[in-house]
Amino acid sequence: MGPVNRDAFEECPEGGVLRDDLTGLPILSSVLEQVEFYLQRRDQVGFLYFDVVQFHLLKETYGREVSESLLEELGQALARLRGKLFRDRDLVAVGGRGADYFVIFLFSPPRHKASFSQSDLKLISYRVVQKLTNLLNERAAFLGVKEKIDFHSGYTVIVHDPESSVERLVYEAQKEAALKSELDEILVTFVSNVTHELRTPLTCIKGYAETLLEGALEDPDLARRWLQVIGGEAERLERLINDLLDVSMMEAQQVEFHFEPTDLLSLARRTAEVLMPHASKSGVTLAVRGTDALPLVQADRDRLSQVLLNLVDNAVKYSPPGSEVTLRLGLGAPGWVLLEVLDRGTGIPAGQLSRIFERFYRVEKGRGARHGGRGLGLAIAKRIVEAHGGDLSVESQMGSGSVFRLDLPVEGPFVEEGRDEED
Ligand SMILES: Nc1ncnc2c1ncn2[C@@H]1O[C@H](COP(=O)(O)OP(=O)(O)OP(=O)(O)O)[C@@H](O)[C@H]1O
Ligand SMILES: [Mg+2]
Repeated sequence: MGPVNRDAFEECPEGGVLRDDLTGLPILSSVLEQVEFYLQRRDQVGFLYFDVVQFHLLKETYGREVSESLLEELGQALARLRGKLFRDRDLVAVGGRGADYFVIFLFSPPRHKASFSQSDLKLISYRVVQKLTNLLNERAAFLGVKEKIDFHSGYTVIVHDPESSVERLVYEAQKEAALKSELDEILVTFVSNVTHELRTPLTCIKGYAETLLEGALEDPDLARRWLQVIGGEAERLERLINDLLDVSMMEAQQVEFHFEPTDLLSLARRTAEVLMPHASKSGVTLAVRGTDALPLVQADRDRLSQVLLNLVDNAVKYSPPGSEVTLRLGLGAPGWVLLEVLDRGTGIPAGQLSRIFERFYRVEKGRGARHGGRGLGLAIAKRIVEAHGGDLSVESQMGSGSVFRLDLPVEGPFVEEGRDEED
């Protein structure tokens, strides 16, 4: 690392800087020379990135005047934070004229430190976002904006690299910051979903335990009933935790699959048998249609049966009484077999078809809640099918039903090279 040039800031060229009329901030592309100047002297620069979530929607909904006024406010808010959350000489820039994204280049690490750490940057970024969110929402409320405005934010360190141009380095930093912001967001929604799902059974367990202690214990019949509820909720918690573990292990590719030649038709029949009592309670009949001429498929029977159970369970849940849920098996493309689960139920809105395979996604909360669903079944199913080298897809028509289609390669997930090794 080169010696720190204390005079660097005084020497830095300010020429050629273009400013955005709305925010009054320099435009990113016109400050790269300055950034390079510091990078060469400091070896590293901290980088923060912010953009307004769904800004184009705000613009569409509330018009140009409001959206411009919000950008103006952002520019002023950033100016007010200068010298407080970051230093006077740090560089704040806007992505372009009228752009809704901002960057801050931090030219010196926090006091007493030789370099930037990720956690320093995370903290500064967090504080800036908090302030910006507050200031911007105050202004937005004043302008009659009803939605809460949020930011995507990310941070990284740009390290001097004589091989790369400053444009390239800043571009990479922006990409990394955006990725980090996305991961943070996934984690936050994941954690809030999990806590929500855990809280419901826990609240119930706590409530019943308290009632028991407050006297219900004296009444043996009542006590037994309450204890059964507690036991049931504890089981639900256990299932939830197991399923959660399942998805994350599968995402991390930590689950071992045991492939063996499998007769899909008997697997389908067994699934139907298991769910028959459940289906007839809702007045739904189950039928398996297929040919005995199907080839055996390389599959993990337990895992695949988990997929079928969830698909048929879903089909039953969303079917009207008196209708039939069909498991249909047949030959697909050469080397593939096809298994479809058909229902004549509510159907799934076209816009949400691609989302139902996401963890915790339910078409509508009320409906999911009524059926006690947690939105994990399809996420797990999709990953199991992919581990088989297959594909799980869906077609649906609102009001007339859905078809979940499983395409499975007869040979399982093994690629050509794998087969050679086995011989
Ligand atoms: N056959 C179907 N008909 C209509 N909607 C469906 C069907 N299958 C799935 N869905 C929708 O997709 C969502 C996700 O399904 P998934 O199996 O992942 O979760 P779930 O059944 O709600 O809960 P879990 O399977 O974790 O107990 C469901 O909540 C429902 O909104
Ligand atoms: Mg389900």
